[in-house]
Amino acid sequence: MTQKELNIIPEPVNISSKEGAFTLNEKTLILTDLKLKAIAEQLKQILLSTLGLNLVIKEGSQTKETNNIIILKTVKNEKQLNHEGYTLIVSQKRIEILAPTPNGIFYGIQTMRQLIPLKIIGTKNIGLKLSIPCVVIEDYPRFQCRGFMLDVARHFFEKDEIKKVLDFMALLKLNKFHFHLTDDQGWRVEIKKYPLLTEIGSKREGTIASQRSFRSNKKNKVPLDGIPVSGYYTQQDLRELIQYATERFITIIPELDFPGHTTAALAAYPELSCTGGPFKVSTRFGIHKEVLCIGKEKVFEFTQNVLNEIIEIFPSSIIHIGGDEAPKKRWKKCLDCQARIKDESLGSVENLQVYFTNRIADYLGSKGRQVIGWNEILNDKLNENAICHYWTMNLKQVLEHARLGRKVVMSEMSAVYLNYPYKIIPLERAYNYEPIPNELEAKYHDKILGIEACLWTEFVKNKKNLEWQAFPRLIAVAETGWTPKNKKNFKSFQKRLEKFNKWLDLFKVNYAKKEEYLL
Ligand code: ACM
Ligand code: ZN
Repeated sequence: MTQKELNIIPEPVNISSKEGAFTLNEKTLILTDLKLKAIAEQLKQILLSTLGLNLVIKEGSQTKETNNIIILKTVKNEKQLNHEGYTLIVSQKRIEILAPTPNGIFYGIQTMRQLIPLKIIGTKNIGLKLSIPCVVIEDYPRFQCRGFMLDVARHFFEKDEIKKVLDFMALLKLNKFHFHLTDDQGWRVEIKKYPLLTEIGSKREGTIASQRSFRSNKKNKVPLDGIPVSGYYTQQDLRELIQYATERFITIIPELDFPGHTTAALAAYPELSCTGGPFKVSTRFGIHKEVLCIGKEKVFEFTQNVLNEIIEIFPSSIIHIGGDEAPKKRWKKCLDCQARIKDESLGSVENLQVYFTNRIADYLGSKGRQVIGWNEILNDKLNENAICHYWTMNLKQVLEHARLGRKVVMSEMSAVYLNYPYKIIPLERAYNYEPIPNELEAKYHDKILGIEACLWTEFVKNKKNLEWQAFPRLIAVAETGWTPKNKKNFKSFQKRLEKFNKWLDLFKVNYAKKEEYLL
């Protein structure tokens, strides 16, 4: 059997195919370490829901049984697999998933799932023979950060849809869900100290009617579609999502976008702006001139109070503070901002944003958290712990950041912004995007933490649209995040994707078809 016929996505590091097969049946026993019990339960649920097989789980490392067992076992890291790596051994007698950490065991299970013959997935027909081909797989990720960003500010997505996204991220071994929670068009996270953020900021009366008017100069005069948009996550909702993600070894990184993209927050608390408002939650898209006033101390009080609640909810060691597209027009004319520039010897309005970023980075640092922000946060004076999230334009500045030993996550807009139509970013383009820039010297390659696909939702109004934009391009990005560069191959990927689509069908995902994504 050749490697290709196994159809695993992401393609594993090492596959060695053997003769024969393991036969799963209702008598197969799952044998697990005590600390892997919850993962064993998940495996049991997967086999039950996809195959109708209800297997018994047995704890402990000793058993009389040597045949017809699936063993989940943490082992010393002799193979120097990185901490998400695993070994999967399928023989005729048993399946073994061995890893130094529970993360690795979980990923071994995701690979094993993909070895189940596809024609029987979802049939729940235990009369069929469930054969898993004998194989030895040794596997580990290329990058520690393999992410997906979803914008829930422009359009709101219910908890169940987020869970469905997390399920697929897990199957694809993606491990960071970047939750873009606030923007000009909506504030979508409950903050108990500032109730108006959601009372006012989570609702807008409509949205500009067409994509064409997005680019119109007559910004406030274009017609609205008359369809109100609202919704937010309570802190309880977020805890539930974090729990769900954690069980799938996914960290949720919250993004609160400051100091730009804050019109929804300013509609609720106009005193945080330079002019005092009033403002409305925005119904159009693009860059907005209203921003937080960096001259006013109460803006720092607000930001820190909001972040206090955010870090109470989100265990992520990294907090995204946005930082993109913050125009300086208001700061230039604001007396408070000008006083700040003078008092702090910032020199010019250009340095107001880094002053803000550094104060927030220091504050979060004092709480044991690290900031990440879009590449507009870059500045000679930037806090050395701040991580750069690259999306567009000044790659040179990003290279300098890496050469200073600082960290970067890559989301090149022209390759992995999944909101673009397939005509502009076909599947192959998304697949072939290489996160380590050519110009970066090898000794700095480890500063590139990984890759993240982003889905902005200005024109992604519902879950059908979301799934269409994300799949299959997110699957391509997942392979880039995991598979060694020299093992990637678009032809092979396409072949494997045809089989992977069976999983998408099973979970009723509205994915783009070949005619669409190969354009
Ligand atoms: C961005 O796309 N404004 C980060
Ligand atoms: Zn100001």
